[in-house]
Amino acid sequence: MTDQLTITLNDGHVMPQFGLGVWQMPEDETERLVGNAIAQGYRAVDTAKAYGNEAGVGRAVRATDETIFVTTKLWNPDQGHDKALKAFDRSFAELGLDWIDLYLIHWPVPQANLFAETWKALVRLKEEGRVHSIGVSNFTIETLERIIDDTGVVPAVNQIECHPRFQQVELRAFHEANGIATTSWSPLGRGDLLADPVIVAIADKHGRTPAQVTLRWHLENGLIAIPKSANPDRQGENLQTLDFRLDGEDLERMAKLDRADGRTGPDPDSFAMGLD
Ligand code: A2P
Repeated sequence: MTDQLTITLNDGHVMPQFGLGVWQMPEDETERLVGNAIAQGYRAVDTAKAYGNEAGVGRAVRATDETIFVTTKLWNPDQGHDKALKAFDRSFAELGLDWIDLYLIHWPVPQANLFAETWKALVRLKEEGRVHSIGVSNFTIETLERIIDDTGVVPAVNQIECHPRFQQVELRAFHEANGIATTSWSPLGRGDLLADPVIVAIADKHGRTPAQVTLRWHLENGLIAIPKSANPDRQGENLQTLDFRLDGEDLERMAKLDRADGRTGPDPDSFAMGLD
Protein backbone atom coordinates (compact mmCIF):
# COMPACT_ATOMS: atom_id res chain seq x y z
CA MET A 1 0.00 0.00 0.00
CA THR A 2 0.98 3.63 -0.35
CA ASP A 3 2.26 5.63 2.61
CA GLN A 4 -0.49 7.42 4.45
CA LEU A 5 -0.51 11.17 4.88
CA THR A 6 -1.54 12.35 8.32
CA ILE A 7 -2.63 15.51 10.10
CA THR A 8 -1.72 16.24 13.72
CA LEU A 9 -4.85 17.57 15.42
CA ASN A 10 -4.81 20.43 17.94
CA ASP A 11 -4.98 17.93 20.82
CA GLY A 12 -1.88 16.04 19.62
CA HIS A 13 -3.71 13.03 18.14
CA VAL A 14 -2.76 12.03 14.61
CA MET A 15 -5.46 11.49 11.97
CA PRO A 16 -5.05 9.98 8.49
CA GLN A 17 -5.66 12.64 5.84
CA PHE A 18 -7.59 10.16 3.73
CA GLY A 19 -10.38 7.81 4.70
CA LEU A 20 -13.54 6.03 3.64
CA GLY A 21 -16.94 7.68 4.08
CA VAL A 22 -19.83 5.26 4.59
CA TRP A 23 -22.86 7.53 4.19
CA GLN A 24 -25.70 5.60 2.51
CA MET A 25 -23.83 2.33 2.82
CA PRO A 26 -26.41 -0.33 3.76
CA GLU A 27 -25.72 -1.84 7.17
CA ASP A 28 -25.72 -5.40 5.80
CA GLU A 29 -22.97 -4.53 3.28
CA THR A 30 -20.90 -2.26 5.47
CA GLU A 31 -18.73 -4.87 7.16
CA ARG A 32 -17.69 -6.36 3.81
CA LEU A 33 -17.12 -3.00 2.09
CA VAL A 34 -15.17 -1.50 4.98
CA GLY A 35 -13.19 -4.74 5.30
CA ASN A 36 -12.37 -4.52 1.61
CA ALA A 37 -11.26 -0.91 1.98
CA ILE A 38 -9.00 -1.78 4.91
CA ALA A 39 -7.48 -4.62 2.89
CA GLN A 40 -6.74 -2.12 0.11
CA GLY A 41 -4.97 0.23 2.52
CA TYR A 42 -7.59 2.56 4.01
CA ARG A 43 -6.75 3.45 7.59
CA ALA A 44 -9.69 5.71 8.51
CA VAL A 45 -13.46 5.29 8.38
CA ASP A 46 -16.06 8.02 8.82
CA THR A 47 -19.50 6.92 10.00
CA ALA A 48 -22.36 8.49 11.98
CA LYS A 49 -25.30 7.45 14.09
CA ALA A 50 -27.55 8.77 11.30
CA TYR A 51 -25.98 6.43 8.72
CA GLY A 52 -27.30 3.38 10.60
CA ASN A 53 -24.16 1.35 9.97
CA GLU A 54 -21.92 1.88 13.02
CA ALA A 55 -22.23 -1.81 13.97
CA GLY A 56 -20.98 -2.91 10.53
CA VAL A 57 -18.05 -0.50 10.75
CA GLY A 58 -17.25 -1.83 14.22
CA ARG A 59 -17.26 -5.45 13.02
CA ALA A 60 -14.89 -4.65 10.15
CA VAL A 61 -12.53 -2.66 12.37
CA ARG A 62 -12.50 -5.32 15.09
CA ALA A 63 -11.70 -7.97 12.46
CA THR A 64 -8.38 -6.39 11.43
CA ASP A 65 -5.03 -6.09 13.20
CA GLU A 66 -4.47 -2.72 11.51
CA THR A 67 -4.99 0.46 13.52
CA ILE A 68 -8.02 2.19 12.03
CA PHE A 69 -9.01 5.74 12.90
CA VAL A 70 -12.78 5.76 13.48
CA THR A 71 -14.97 8.85 13.40
CA THR A 72 -18.65 8.87 14.31
CA LYS A 73 -21.18 11.63 14.85
CA LEU A 74 -23.96 12.63 17.21
CA TRP A 75 -27.32 12.88 15.46
CA ASN A 76 -29.58 15.95 15.68
CA PRO A 77 -32.31 14.60 18.02
CA ASP A 78 -29.60 13.59 20.50
CA GLN A 79 -28.48 17.15 21.15
CA GLY A 80 -28.56 18.40 24.74
CA HIS A 81 -26.06 17.62 27.51
CA ASP A 82 -27.52 14.43 28.98
CA LYS A 83 -28.95 13.14 25.71
CA ALA A 84 -25.53 13.56 24.13
CA LEU A 85 -23.86 11.46 26.83
CA LYS A 86 -26.43 8.69 26.28
CA ALA A 87 -26.08 8.91 22.50
CA PHE A 88 -22.34 8.50 22.84
CA ASP A 89 -22.86 5.38 24.98
CA ARG A 90 -25.06 3.91 22.24
CA SER A 91 -22.58 4.66 19.44
CA PHE A 92 -19.76 3.33 21.59
CA ALA A 93 -21.67 0.09 22.15
CA GLU A 94 -22.60 -0.24 18.45
CA LEU A 95 -18.98 0.18 17.38
CA GLY A 96 -17.70 -2.12 20.14
CA LEU A 97 -14.22 -0.59 20.14
CA ASP A 98 -11.96 0.28 23.08
CA TRP A 99 -12.22 3.94 22.18
CA ILE A 100 -13.56 6.21 19.46
CA ASP A 101 -10.94 8.32 17.75
CA LEU A 102 -13.14 11.27 16.86
CA TYR A 103 -16.69 12.18 17.88
CA LEU A 104 -18.45 15.02 16.09
CA ILE A 105 -21.68 16.97 16.53
CA HIS A 106 -23.20 16.21 13.12
CA TRP A 107 -25.04 19.54 12.53
CA PRO A 108 -25.32 22.68 14.66
CA VAL A 109 -29.16 22.99 14.32
CA PRO A 110 -28.98 26.62 15.53
CA GLN A 111 -32.77 26.92 15.81
CA ALA A 112 -32.80 24.28 18.59
CA ASN A 113 -30.00 26.20 20.34
CA LEU A 114 -28.65 23.07 22.04
CA PHE A 115 -25.29 22.83 20.29
CA ALA A 116 -23.36 24.70 22.99
CA GLU A 117 -24.49 22.44 25.83
CA THR A 118 -23.98 19.43 23.54
CA TRP A 119 -20.40 20.59 23.04
CA LYS A 120 -19.92 20.69 26.82
CA ALA A 121 -20.95 17.02 26.94
CA LEU A 122 -18.35 16.17 24.30
CA VAL A 123 -15.70 18.03 26.31
CA ARG A 124 -16.61 15.83 29.29
CA LEU A 125 -16.43 12.64 27.17
CA LYS A 126 -12.94 13.58 26.04
CA GLU A 127 -11.87 14.15 29.62
CA GLU A 128 -13.16 10.66 30.46
CA GLY A 129 -10.95 9.19 27.71
CA ARG A 130 -13.39 7.03 25.75
CA VAL A 131 -13.06 9.43 22.84
CA HIS A 132 -9.62 10.71 21.90
CA SER A 133 -10.66 13.78 19.93
CA ILE A 134 -13.83 15.83 19.67
CA GLY A 135 -15.06 18.09 16.94
CA VAL A 136 -18.03 19.29 14.97
CA SER A 137 -19.50 19.05 11.51
CA ASN A 138 -21.26 21.63 9.38
CA PHE A 139 -20.49 24.40 11.88
CA THR A 140 -20.30 27.98 10.62
CA ILE A 141 -17.93 30.68 11.90
CA GLU A 142 -20.74 31.94 14.12
CA THR A 143 -21.53 28.57 15.72
CA LEU A 144 -17.82 27.77 16.10
CA GLU A 145 -17.20 31.09 17.87
CA ARG A 146 -20.05 30.38 20.25
CA ILE A 147 -18.75 26.99 21.46
CA ILE A 148 -15.16 28.21 21.69
CA ASP A 149 -16.22 31.27 23.71
CA ASP A 150 -18.41 29.13 25.98
CA THR A 151 -15.86 26.45 26.84
CA GLY A 152 -12.41 27.59 25.73
CA VAL A 153 -12.15 24.20 23.99
CA VAL A 154 -11.46 24.46 20.26
CA PRO A 155 -12.86 21.58 18.15
CA ALA A 156 -10.11 19.40 16.69
CA VAL A 157 -12.03 19.14 13.40
CA ASN A 158 -14.90 20.77 11.55
CA GLN A 159 -16.21 18.45 8.85
CA ILE A 160 -17.88 20.50 6.12
CA GLU A 161 -19.06 20.22 2.55
CA CYS A 162 -15.96 21.12 0.55
CA HIS A 163 -14.86 20.41 -3.01
CA PRO A 164 -13.49 22.41 -5.94
CA ARG A 165 -16.92 23.92 -6.72
CA PHE A 166 -17.54 24.89 -3.09
CA GLN A 167 -14.17 25.69 -1.58
CA GLN A 168 -15.29 27.36 1.68
CA VAL A 169 -12.34 29.76 1.58
CA GLU A 170 -13.53 32.01 4.42
CA LEU A 171 -14.45 29.18 6.79
CA ARG A 172 -11.18 27.37 6.07
CA ALA A 173 -9.25 30.54 6.87
CA PHE A 174 -11.08 30.71 10.21
CA HIS A 175 -10.16 27.07 10.85
CA GLU A 176 -6.53 27.74 10.07
CA ALA A 177 -6.40 30.79 12.33
CA ASN A 178 -7.87 28.74 15.18
CA GLY A 179 -6.05 25.42 14.74
CA ILE A 180 -9.09 23.47 13.53
CA ALA A 181 -8.49 20.75 10.93
CA THR A 182 -10.92 20.68 7.99
CA THR A 183 -12.49 17.45 6.79
CA SER A 184 -14.22 17.64 3.40
CA TRP A 185 -17.47 15.74 3.02
CA SER A 186 -18.64 14.95 -0.49
CA PRO A 187 -15.06 15.61 -1.60
CA LEU A 188 -16.00 14.50 -5.12
CA GLY A 189 -18.75 17.08 -5.21
CA ARG A 190 -21.50 14.76 -6.44
CA GLY A 191 -23.21 15.94 -9.62
CA ASP A 192 -21.10 16.67 -12.66
CA LEU A 193 -17.92 18.00 -11.02
CA LEU A 194 -15.95 15.02 -12.31
CA ALA A 195 -16.92 15.99 -15.88
CA ASP A 196 -15.64 19.54 -15.47
CA PRO A 197 -13.34 20.26 -18.46
CA VAL A 198 -10.61 21.75 -16.24
CA ILE A 199 -10.52 18.66 -14.02
CA VAL A 200 -10.67 16.33 -17.03
CA ALA A 201 -7.76 18.19 -18.66
CA ILE A 202 -5.62 18.02 -15.51
CA ALA A 203 -6.47 14.32 -15.16
CA ASP A 204 -5.35 13.68 -18.75
CA LYS A 205 -2.12 15.59 -18.15
CA HIS A 206 -1.20 13.37 -15.18
CA GLY A 207 -2.61 10.14 -16.58
CA ARG A 208 -5.07 10.01 -13.66
CA THR A 209 -8.85 9.98 -13.32
CA PRO A 210 -10.91 13.11 -12.52
CA ALA A 211 -11.75 11.60 -9.10
CA GLN A 212 -8.07 11.14 -8.31
CA VAL A 213 -7.28 14.74 -9.32
CA THR A 214 -10.16 16.03 -7.22
CA LEU A 215 -9.09 14.03 -4.17
CA ARG A 216 -5.50 15.15 -4.67
CA TRP A 217 -6.74 18.77 -4.62
CA HIS A 218 -7.99 18.17 -1.06
CA LEU A 219 -4.70 16.69 0.08
CA GLU A 220 -2.63 19.50 -1.49
CA ASN A 221 -4.85 22.01 0.32
CA GLY A 222 -4.28 20.34 3.69
CA LEU A 223 -7.83 18.99 3.87
CA ILE A 224 -8.88 15.57 5.15
CA ALA A 225 -10.85 13.75 2.43
CA ILE A 226 -13.35 10.94 3.07
CA PRO A 227 -14.79 9.88 -0.30
CA LYS A 228 -17.61 7.39 -0.12
CA SER A 229 -17.60 4.49 -2.48
CA ALA A 230 -19.53 1.27 -2.24
CA ASN A 231 -17.60 -0.09 -5.21
CA PRO A 232 -14.32 -1.89 -4.42
CA ASP A 233 -12.69 -0.78 -7.70
CA ARG A 234 -13.52 2.87 -7.08
CA GLN A 235 -12.37 2.52 -3.47
CA GLY A 236 -9.00 1.43 -4.87
CA GLU A 237 -8.99 4.17 -7.51
CA ASN A 238 -9.65 6.78 -4.84
CA LEU A 239 -6.80 5.52 -2.67
CA GLN A 240 -4.36 5.98 -5.53
CA THR A 241 -4.15 9.69 -4.84
CA LEU A 242 -1.33 9.40 -2.38
CA ASP A 243 1.38 8.82 -4.99
CA PHE A 244 1.25 11.86 -7.29
CA ARG A 245 1.16 15.65 -6.96
CA LEU A 246 -0.65 18.50 -8.65
CA ASP A 247 1.57 21.40 -9.73
CA GLY A 248 1.10 25.13 -9.10
CA GLU A 249 -0.62 25.69 -12.43
CA ASP A 250 -3.13 22.87 -11.75
CA LEU A 251 -3.95 24.35 -8.35
CA GLU A 252 -4.39 27.85 -9.80
CA ARG A 253 -6.80 26.51 -12.41
CA MET A 254 -8.75 24.54 -9.82
CA ALA A 255 -8.97 27.55 -7.46
CA LYS A 256 -11.06 29.25 -10.15
CA LEU A 257 -13.70 26.50 -10.10
CA ASP A 258 -15.15 27.83 -6.81
CA ARG A 259 -18.77 29.00 -7.13
CA ALA A 260 -20.98 30.93 -4.73
CA ASP A 261 -23.82 28.52 -5.54
CA GLY A 262 -21.66 25.38 -5.54
CA ARG A 263 -23.16 23.81 -2.43
CA THR A 264 -24.75 20.40 -3.17
CA GLY A 265 -25.98 19.52 0.34
CA PRO A 266 -28.10 21.22 3.01
CA ASP A 267 -27.48 24.67 4.46
CA PRO A 268 -26.22 24.31 8.08
CA ASP A 269 -28.17 27.41 9.15
CA SER A 270 -31.48 25.68 8.51
CA PHE A 271 -30.85 21.91 8.42
CA ALA A 272 -32.75 20.16 11.23
CA MET A 273 -33.45 16.67 9.95
CA GLY A 274 -34.64 14.35 12.74
CA LEU A 275 -36.27 17.23 14.62
CA ASP A 276 -39.07 17.95 12.16
P1 A2P B 1 -20.12 4.56 -5.70
O1 A2P B 1 -20.41 4.34 -4.24
O2 A2P B 1 -21.00 3.75 -6.59
O3 A2P B 1 -18.65 4.39 -6.01
P2 A2P B 1 -18.85 11.93 -2.38
O4 A2P B 1 -18.01 11.15 -1.40
O5 A2P B 1 -18.17 13.13 -2.95
O6 A2P B 1 -20.23 12.26 -1.83
O7 A2P B 1 -19.09 11.03 -3.63
C1 A2P B 1 -19.69 9.81 -3.48
C2 A2P B 1 -20.32 9.43 -4.79
O8 A2P B 1 -19.32 9.40 -5.81
C3 A2P B 1 -20.92 8.05 -4.73
O9 A2P B 1 -22.08 8.09 -5.49
C4 A2P B 1 -19.87 7.15 -5.37
O10 A2P B 1 -20.50 6.09 -6.04
C5 A2P B 1 -19.21 8.09 -6.35
N1 A2P B 1 -17.78 7.80 -6.52
C6 A2P B 1 -16.90 7.46 -5.57
N2 A2P B 1 -15.68 7.30 -6.09
C7 A2P B 1 -15.79 7.57 -7.42
C8 A2P B 1 -14.88 7.57 -8.49
N3 A2P B 1 -13.59 7.28 -8.31
N4 A2P B 1 -15.35 7.89 -9.72
C9 A2P B 1 -16.65 8.18 -9.92
N5 A2P B 1 -17.56 8.20 -8.94
C10 A2P B 1 -17.14 7.89 -7.70
